[in-house]
Amino acid sequence: MRMEYKIFYFKSPFRSWVILMFLATTIFTSCGSKREPGRVYMPDMAYSRAYEAYAPNNLKKEGINYLNYPVTGTIRRGDLFAYTLPNDSNGYKMAAEVKNPLPPLDSNQLLEAQRLFNINCAICHGPNMDAQGPLATSGKIGGIANLKLDLYIKKPEGQMFHVVTYGKNNMGSYASQLDRKQRWMVVYYIKSEQAKASANKSTTPAATDSSTAKK
Ligand code: HEC
Repeated sequence: MRMEYKIFYFKSPFRSWVILMFLATTIFTSCGSKREPGRVYMPDMAYSRAYEAYAPNNLKKEGINYLNYPVTGTIRRGDLFAYTLPNDSNGYKMAAEVKNPLPPLDSNQLLEAQRLFNINCAICHGPNMDAQGPLATSGKIGGIANLKLDLYIKKPEGQMFHVVTYGKNNMGSYASQLDRKQRWMVVYYIKSEQAKASANKSTTPAATDSSTAKK
């Protein structure tokens, strides 16, 4: 048996060269640049799915679709029912009647809602909701709502949810960053902070409207 092996490899040096060249080409072609993976037989492995909120969907050509929204008419398992009011002035009007479907938040959920607000909203509205976030004070974004004003204290929760879902003027939509439950949690948090603010109103001077000043 041993003899036969020797004969196979060393009888013809040309054959060994062919085998070596074949191995070398295979190794080098599979180590190409990561941006050009060559022939992709498992696209899920060559291109990881994009989880960043603003990542462009450049996987389409490989047949992987990254959707910001669930397919129309479907909801994710465990998600709240779809929000169907349209993104127009009529939808905004009707949203006044929409009620928060969540049961009152306990203290842990309220803390989570505050965390979500501070991450997503405080950059404009400020951690105290008085339109003193860094993008407001630096003048980068104008017309930011001071949520501690009467106008916004009286704003129905459904309309707040509508605006967080679709955006309004200088404020963008948060539908792909926050799921429906998280958006309602944040609205609940705003309402509970506003309730505290209006309870304190009798003892502190009225807040000034920095939102109209910056328009
Ligand atoms: C880029 C800055 C910016 C960020 C971030 C932002 N907002 Fe706003 N928000 C605005 C501006 C500007 C307005 C005023 C819109 C208008 O009426 O013209 C506004 C208005 C609102 C209103 C009043 C809605 C109404 O019916 O008039 C609510 C409630 C609100 N924002 C909540 C949020 C929440 C919750 C978040 C985070 C999920 C958030 N905002 C993030 C800029 C921002």
